[in-house]
Amino acid sequence: MSRDSSLPPQTALPTDRELVLKVIPMPGDCNANGDIFGGWVMAQVDLAGAVLPARYVRGRMATVAVNQFVFKQPVRVGDILSFFAHITRVGRTSVTVQVEVFAERFSTQGQYVKVTEASLTYVAIDLEGRPRPIPRDGLELPGHLA
Ligand SMILES: CC(C)(COP(=O)(O)OP(=O)(O)OC[C@H]1O[C@@H](n2cnc3c(N)ncnc32)[C@H](O)[C@@H]1OP(=O)(O)O)[C@@H](O)C(=O)NCCC(=O)NCCS
Repeated sequence: MSRDSSLPPQTALPTDRELVLKVIPMPGDCNANGDIFGGWVMAQVDLAGAVLPARYVRGRMATVAVNQFVFKQPVRVGDILSFFAHITRVGRTSVTVQVEVFAERFSTQGQYVKVTEASLTYVAIDLEGRPRPIPRDGLELPGHLA
């Protein structure tokens, strides 16, 4: 029996979130259990999470906080991982984003298991690394924040 059989897999990926990254983990990304190392997943989420904020920040930025990070199911070698994101807050100098990660296992292609969910905040920074205001000209907030 597979370890995540208690959760019914989804047959479709989200349509109300933006796909920001797809990647397949390799054997070198494993932990001692043979699953994928959580730190590798966190690094991918940090990369994926930066995509939507980059459109607002329009320049240098830094991750200031991982507000929440949940490993819901293990990630395995060969999973096709899809990272979806949506903006949850645009502040004066920071943007907060929710990232959801779905795995398509090669044993159950066409079905998706949510493996990770996280919230991260990115700050626009100037050349000295200090927070700077997010440009307001042409700023278009997503519908749910407008
Ligand atoms: C990012 C950094 C410049 C922010 O400096 P700071 O002095 O904390 O800045 P501020 O207190 O003015 O906060 C700036 C913004 O970050 C937000 N913020 C700060 N700390 C936060 C936290 N713990 N959680 C969520 N948001 C936070 C603030 O709410 C503010 O957003 P807003 O203007 O939209 O309201 C500084 O913390 C830094 O350089 N950190 C290291 C960044 C880094 O190296 N990241 C890679 C990690 S390996």
